[in-house]
Amino acid sequence: MIDTPHTIAENLRKKLQGMKNAGVNDLIVDKKAAKLATMAKQKRIKNDLKAAPSKAAPSQKTINAGAVFVESQAAKKLGAYGGERAKRLAQMARDVANCAQCQLCSVRTQTVYSRGNPNSPLMFIGEAPGADEDAQGFPFVGRAGKLLDDIVAKGMQYNPDDVYICNVLKCRPPNNRNPEPDEIEACRSWLEAQIEIIDPVVIVAWGKFSAQWLLQSDAPIGKLRGRMWDVGGRKVVCTYHPAYLLRTPSAKTETWKDVQIVMDYFGRGKPLPMRV
Ligand code: URA
Ligand code: URA
Repeated sequence: MIDTPHTIAENLRKKLQGMKNAGVNDLIVDKKAAKLATMAKQKRIKNDLKAAPSKAAPSQKTINAGAVFVESQAAKKLGAYGGERAKRLAQMARDVANCAQCQLCSVRTQTVYSRGNPNSPLMFIGEAPGADEDAQGFPFVGRAGKLLDDIVAKGMQYNPDDVYICNVLKCRPPNNRNPEPDEIEACRSWLEAQIEIIDPVVIVAWGKFSAQWLLQSDAPIGKLRGRMWDVGGRKVVCTYHPAYLLRTPSAKTETWKDVQIVMDYFGRGKPLPMRV
């Protein structure tokens, strides 16, 4: 379907109104100026957060971004895998790329959907994209991601590309602050659908937010890690977040114990039982 100029103008008007509602007051196309404006805006958000942590986000939850269509990087990559899972995930990734269900849509560069093999029996769930992920469009591509890949490749002896990796939130919270409860709720159905489509045998929750989401618990990560849980017929193992391990290398001993639970489950020294 080809949009009429009227539809395009109307969609653009809605998108701009949505951005305005979310606190965007200027639109600058000069790249250098845009960068400075973004930095100034992030600083303002940071100061707002310091002043009133729970009130910084605009109260409006649903922002109609109109039909200005954004393509998803993840969808393009998923397409290459073929098969039913990849097809359904690629379609969802396109919907996610155009999601405007919470205020983070107005401050993201792009959504971060997933990376890795959709036919994997092993799914990793992290917290939320950081600056590198927001810039590149794929999860765990920064420093924490490098550590995560090392844990998988050197520790578990699996190819990191054979694991399906995503996050609780698909958009970066400003300044990498913690996800807000309303953002987690707004994003819930995306992650639920990802889990349903992947149908993983084992899920590893990296960090508190992912662990608490999966186990519907408010216990600290130290109490949730160290064992295999059964959640609706799936196995769940929780461990420390790689970013936490970078700050607290002594905790790597615990994470090594946790990932060994996964290795033992699939059989030590055996390759991951990939599905079709
Ligand atoms: N931390 C996360 O939880 N997820 C990412 O994708 C990157 C860093
Ligand atoms: N706190 C968190 O939120 N996550 C961790 O992994 C460790 C401490």
